[in-house]
Amino acid sequence: MMRYRYFLSLLAGLFVLGLTFLNDAMPLPVLAQEPTPTASSLASSPHQTGDCLGCHSNPDMLGRFADGKTMSLYYDPQEHEGSDHIDGCRSCHDVQHDYPHENSQAQSCTVCHTQFFDGDFQGEPIFEITAYADERAVIMDINSSCHKCHQEKFQEITDSEHTRVLEQGNRFAPICVDCHGSHNITSPNEPRTKVAEMCSKCHMSVYTTYATSVHGEALSAESNPDVPTCSNCHGSHVVEGPTHIDFRADSIGLCGNCHADMNLMNKYGISTNVFQTYLDDFHGRTVDSSHKAGEVKIAKATCYDCHGVHNIQSHENKLSSVYPANLQKTCQQCHTEVGITFPQAWLSHYSPTWEDAPLLFLVNNFYKFFIPAVMGLFVVYIALDAARRVMDRYKKNPGPSVEASDPQQAGK
Ligand code: HEC
Ligand code: HEC
Ligand code: HEC
Ligand code: HEC
Ligand code: HEC
Ligand code: HEC
Ligand code: HEC
Ligand code: HEC
Ligand code: HEC
Ligand code: HEC
Repeated sequence: MMRYRYFLSLLAGLFVLGLTFLNDAMPLPVLAQEPTPTASSLASSPHQTGDCLGCHSNPDMLGRFADGKTMSLYYDPQEHEGSDHIDGCRSCHDVQHDYPHENSQAQSCTVCHTQFFDGDFQGEPIFEITAYADERAVIMDINSSCHKCHQEKFQEITDSEHTRVLEQGNRFAPICVDCHGSHNITSPNEPRTKVAEMCSKCHMSVYTTYATSVHGEALSAESNPDVPTCSNCHGSHVVEGPTHIDFRADSIGLCGNCHADMNLMNKYGISTNVFQTYLDDFHGRTVDSSHKAGEVKIAKATCYDCHGVHNIQSHENKLSSVYPANLQKTCQQCHTEVGITFPQAWLSHYSPTWEDAPLLFLVNNFYKFFIPAVMGLFVVYIALDAARRVMDRYKKNPGPSVEASDPQQAGK
């Protein structure tokens, strides 16, 4: 008999424990009947206290749009851990300040208070969302709340290619939340690999190419702080691409920023001569002067026409577009008719030397020698001539001390 009673109370204990667990897993309260709203009962309910979790802690909670598509309405606290924005939900959720939410249609009270969360309900907690066409519209609406505290960033992005695309009606051009996240906002460039990953969400094919390039590989493998990531070349808030007027011409300075920097390049044993030799070359010279003249279309080769863009490789890598075996094809992008020997006739980034290009070396140095020599000889010639003339005049017209230097007297 005693045993039987112990067994019963153990069972009861387990039942209560089980309920507690169930309650944790499904924290939305069981609301058996419709409440009577009074000002004070509402004020202390999650409807108005800002206790969003009172409703949004159910992992199954969904919103359903007119087209039948759904979005999760579950708020996952884990996602928010480590975020820089823990001021409280309402700092971003102006629109959802109280329940019913401002932009959404109120659900019938009984949906929660009797149907969904009473013990008998078999369905899922799905709520119709009529005020927004789709999830993107919800996100774009909440995104505008970032403006409150980050006004200057909204100012910055107005010149971005992304904003232009957005204004042309492409709703999937990135807004703050796409790049930074919402509940999981943390420092955007620490670690540095984050930036490229951020862009990869929409530019996957560029990202995969970049990731295997000499720059991208150094970034992902060694977190190398010296190689460019997407934002070094395109910007982050003011993103520019090839359709931007100055992008192509500016790209030379862009590569030059690093590749003409002696301290930086010495670390990798890469010659900084590449920049100056490019500018001295027929391509660079004309690109540079057309850029200064404000020309928009530049037909001559820029660094990336030869080296590639997102797929830049070391010149010793067989995949490189400047690897000797691939060079002819690279030149043929523009010099369509040229043959196999064409690249060999060109000095690449080298200044001519006696070994590489004796003739050019001689021509270059011939003038280096010839012009100063001619000038020098000319000066000597003028000097000698002047001296001669002075001496001649002196001889013809000896001046006041004539007597003393009279040859006849001197002969005495
Ligand atoms: C009383 C329950 C309840 C409370 C409390 C509540 N919500 Fe909601 N929330 C809902 C329901 C139901 C929906 C979906 C249908 C709708 O829009 O009314 C929703 C929708 C949302 C949406 C999707 C967009 C939208 O407006 O439809 C967001 C975001 C949201 N809530 C955030 C919050 C935040 C933040 C809080 C706290 C400040 C909060 N909610 C408090 C019930 C609640
Ligand atoms: C830094 C601003 C910010 C803060 C702070 C914030 N949210 Fe959000 N929240 C957003 C944005 C933006 C979205 C929509 C984009 C998305 O879905 O990621 C969103 C979406 C939601 C949604 C819809 C479901 C989802 O995840 O898409 C819920 C529910 C929600 N938030 C609840 C909360 C709660 C609860 C808090 C406070 C504990 C909170 N939010 C704090 C910005 C914020
Ligand atoms: C999305 C679900 C949802 C909807 C829809 C909803 N409520 Fe609530 N309501 C809740 C939750 C959750 C609580 C908190 C229950 C608790 O604390 O026991 C609550 C609490 C309340 C309370 C205070 C607690 C009480 O029992 O007195 C009142 C009053 C109330 N609701 C009124 C309404 C009215 C009126 C409507 C319709 C206009 C409505 N609710 C629609 C979820 C909802
Ligand atoms: C295309 C992606 C992208 C978009 C869109 C974007 N950002 Fe950024 N943001 C970045 C990157 C990348 C950084 C890191 C700094 C850098 O590389 O310039 C950053 C840095 C920041 C910083 C911290 C560093 C600083 O400059 O103070 C803030 C704050 C910020 N962004 C807010 C915003 C806001 C607000 C919006 C919307 C108006 C926005 N961002 C839109 C990519 C983006
Ligand atoms: C209530 C004010 C407030 C709102 C709303 C707000 N932020 Fe911030 N945010 C801050 C403050 C304060 C900082 C820290 C100082 C700084 O870096 O500017 C910050 C920092 C940031 C950073 C840099 C984080 C870092 O670690 O460097 C980003 C990115 C950012 N916010 C994006 C957003 C986005 C996106 C939204 C909208 C979903 C948003 N913020 C909404 C106040 C806010
Ligand atoms: C939410 C998606 C999304 C994210 C995230 C995103 N972009 Fe974009 N980006 C677009 C769309 C859409 C366009 C316009 C369509 C196109 O030209 O491909 C675009 C255009 C561009 C262009 C101009 C392309 C051209 O042809 O003129 C560049 C450059 C660019 N993005 C760079 C970046 C960089 C760098 C980042 C990360 C800091 C980034 N994007 C993040 C969606 C995105
Ligand atoms: C070393 C500088 C550099 C880096 C790093 C770089 N880009 Fe580019 N990107 C360029 C140049 C130069 C062009 C123009 C190419 C052209 O005109 O064909 C370009 C073109 C683009 C375009 C438009 C044309 C296309 O190829 O689709 C997009 C989008 C783009 N980049 C995104 C990215 C993203 C995302 C990353 C990071 C994963 C990145 N870029 C890294 C220099 C760079
Ligand atoms: C007309 C084609 C062409 C142009 C334009 C060009 N390069 Fe090169 N570049 C080459 C070739 C070919 C090589 C390989 C030389 C060799 O085999 O030694 C090379 C080699 C390099 C190297 C490797 C040098 C080393 O020391 O390892 C770098 C870095 C480089 N170029 C950067 C640039 C930069 C920056 C620009 C623009 C300012 C540029 N290149 C413009 C064809 C070009
Ligand atoms: C932010 C600085 C930075 C920018 C901008 C940059 N690079 Fe580099 N680049 C580097 C560094 C650092 C390395 C060496 C990486 C390594 O070896 O780990 C490198 C390597 C290279 C190499 C391989 C050199 C070799 O051994 O042959 C080439 C080619 C190259 N870059 C071309 C370019 C071109 C073309 C551009 C412009 C479109 C450019 N880089 C823009 C920093 C930069
Ligand atoms: C993006 C197009 C482009 C690429 C790629 C290119 N060039 Fe050129 N190159 C030009 C243009 C345009 C001129 C004419 C420049 C001028 O008249 O000022 C030129 C001029 C020259 C000249 C001067 C003689 C002449 O025909 O006018 C030589 C030599 C030359 N390029 C060699 C090369 C070599 C070698 C390569 C490959 C490694 C190469 N180029 C790749 C566009 C290109």
